[in-house]
Amino acid sequence: MSIHIAAQSGDIAETILLPGDPLRAQWIAENFFENPVRYNTVRNMFGFTGTYKGHRVSAQGTGMGVPSLSIYVNELFNDYNVQTAIRVGTCGGIGKTKLRDVVIAMAASTDSGTNRRATGGLDYSPIANYELLERAVGSARERGLDFHVGGIATMDLFYDDSNAVDVLEKLGVLALEMETTGLYTLAAKYQRRALTICTVSDMVRTHEATSSEERETGFRAMVEVALDAALG
Ligand code: HPA
Repeated sequence: MSIHIAAQSGDIAETILLPGDPLRAQWIAENFFENPVRYNTVRNMFGFTGTYKGHRVSAQGTGMGVPSLSIYVNELFNDYNVQTAIRVGTCGGIGKTKLRDVVIAMAASTDSGTNRRATGGLDYSPIANYELLERAVGSARERGLDFHVGGIATMDLFYDDSNAVDVLEKLGVLALEMETTGLYTLAAKYQRRALTICTVSDMVRTHEATSSEERETGFRAMVEVALDAALG
C-alpha cells in the first residue's frame, strides 16, 4: 500500500496507461481489458489491472496538473515497480494542430517550477522514451490517424491571461496540457519509460471544442495506439 494507492505490490502491472480522468481509467478497463480488477478507490482515483492480448496491463487516473500526476507516478514507480507509463489525455491545440488531431509528445516545455526543483535550477528538457515514441508513430500511421509528433507544453494554469501561447506557438509547440513535464522528468529520475499521447479536445485560441461523443471516439483510437506502443 502507498499513501494514495491502496493496492498490494503485484496488483499493478509493469505497463500502465495514465488518463487524467479516473472514469477514463474505468472506461479503458471495461473496453479493452480482459478480467479487469479495480485495485484502487482512494479519492475515487480509480486504477484497474487486466490483460490485453495476453499481456498484463493497468490503467490509473492521475488527476489534473503536475502536482496530482506526480503523486501517483511517484508511487507507481517507487512502490509498484511500474516500468512503462503512457499518458493518454486531451490537450488544447495551438499552431498547426486541428481539433481531434492526435499529438505524440517528443518533449514537454513548461512554466511549472517542478522541473527546476528537480534539477536545482537547471532547465532540464523532459523527453519521451524513443522506443515508445517510435512504436506509437508506427501505430498511428498504420491506423491512418491525423497525428503530429513534436513538442507540447505543460502549463500550470488552464485559465491563463499571459502571452505564453504567442511565445510557444512561435517556437513550434503543438499543444498545451497540464501533466507531461512531470511524467517525463519522473521517468528520467527513476529510469523508466514514458510517453504522452493526447488528442486535441479544444483549440486554445478559438475555444472550438469537441463533443463528448467525438472525445470518446478519439480516446478509443489513442488507447489503441498507446497499447500498440506499450506492448508491441
Ligand atoms: N490548456 C491546458 N490544458 C488543456 C487544454 C488547454 O487548453 N485543453 C485540454 N487540456
